[in-house]
Amino acid sequence: MKSVALKGVKQFEIKDVEEPKQESGEVIIDVLKCGICGSDIHYWDAGEPKGLIMGHEYCGKVLDPGSREDLKVGDRVTALPISPCLKCSACRTGNPQYCKDTWTYATGLSLTNPGGLAEKMKIRPDMVIKVPDNITDEEVAMVEPTAVGLHAIHLADIKVGDKVLVIGGGIIGLVSAMFAKMEGARFVGVSETNEARGKKAMRLGVADAFYDAKKETMIQELLEETDGGFDIVIECCGNSPAVSSALSVVKPGGKVILVGVSLNPVTIPTVAAVMHELTVQGAIAYTKEEFQTCIDLMSEKKIEMLKFVDDIVGLKDVQKSYERLTSGVDDAVKILVDPKK
Ligand SMILES: NC(=O)c1ccc[n+]([C@@H]2O[C@H](COP(=O)([O-])OP(=O)(O)OC[C@H]3O[C@@H](n4cnc5c(N)ncnc54)[C@H](O)[C@@H]3O)[C@@H](O)[C@H]2O)c1
Ligand SMILES: [Zn+2]
Ligand SMILES: [Zn+2]
Repeated sequence: MKSVALKGVKQFEIKDVEEPKQESGEVIIDVLKCGICGSDIHYWDAGEPKGLIMGHEYCGKVLDPGSREDLKVGDRVTALPISPCLKCSACRTGNPQYCKDTWTYATGLSLTNPGGLAEKMKIRPDMVIKVPDNITDEEVAMVEPTAVGLHAIHLADIKVGDKVLVIGGGIIGLVSAMFAKMEGARFVGVSETNEARGKKAMRLGVADAFYDAKKETMIQELLEETDGGFDIVIECCGNSPAVSSALSVVKPGGKVILVGVSLNPVTIPTVAAVMHELTVQGAIAYTKEEFQTCIDLMSEKKIEMLKFVDDIVGLKDVQKSYERLTSGVDDAVKILVDPKK
């Protein structure tokens, strides 16, 4: 079957690989739609590990239900990409996202468990979730990034009336901004280095204002505009300038949520956190409950996720789509892949 595998720095190849085979009760699916994630872009940038088949945000149709007796051929499903051991103390206390196995063997993020940039894939049965008929394949592929934003907002603990700044208007930033408003923020700003994405955040109705992060005076202006800083800042980029700006524009005593990931250490002005007694809170993934909540919110029409989908491409256009998503000028934030296209 056809797949897209990482070949080198910013380079994919279309690769013929063996179809997944049943080994120990895994669920085998036909991939219907699979999202390209900002985290995947970090691997693409690094070109490692070679041979990686990415894709951890997907909707599929069951070909073989494996050990899941409640599933049948043809059911539509998605799955959590995490791979918790279920034995360690993190797993036992309901935090599978901290388990050391979770990312080592994560689906679409490890060589051991290839992801959805392929015609078919196999998934650990206990991570598979059947989805309701009233949400589309495209919406199902949006569940995973939506759950990332929901988890960040749960940790942010926003109070009605808070002023919130989201740094980075990729899909994670946009979803976080959307949930910040639902939590009662009276003002949500988005800062972006890509003007087209920043303006789009406003057009999509998730942000009240867009701030150009390339402007040298941005931090000073934001501090004046907010009379000393935002109550909560949600950092959704991971690079040094972005994390530094987060620490600089939050109010004294305020809270910064770090969602953005960097594969390398980043330099930040820790003195800002010390002098202003900031709370800096990391946010990784989601719990199973948060994942299910996002499916429910879509099914109950409480959130509208299709507006964030910019394009649907075939496997042959994955390389081009990564280039588009990283151009720094295009306003696309989420591209889905349809391996049959
Ligand atoms: N913690 C988690 O569980 C989790 C889950 C998914 C993604 N992530 C991470 O979150 C980040 C965002 O994901 P995404 O899919 O939205 O990625 P993305 O690459 O699409 O979005 C990042 C955005 O940040 C903007 N940006 C870069 N530097 C900036 C700066 N200094 N100020 C303002 N904006 C800046 C870019 O223009 C881009 O639009 C990535 O680092 C990703 O790896 C974390
Ligand atoms: Zn993702
Ligand atoms: Zn564990």
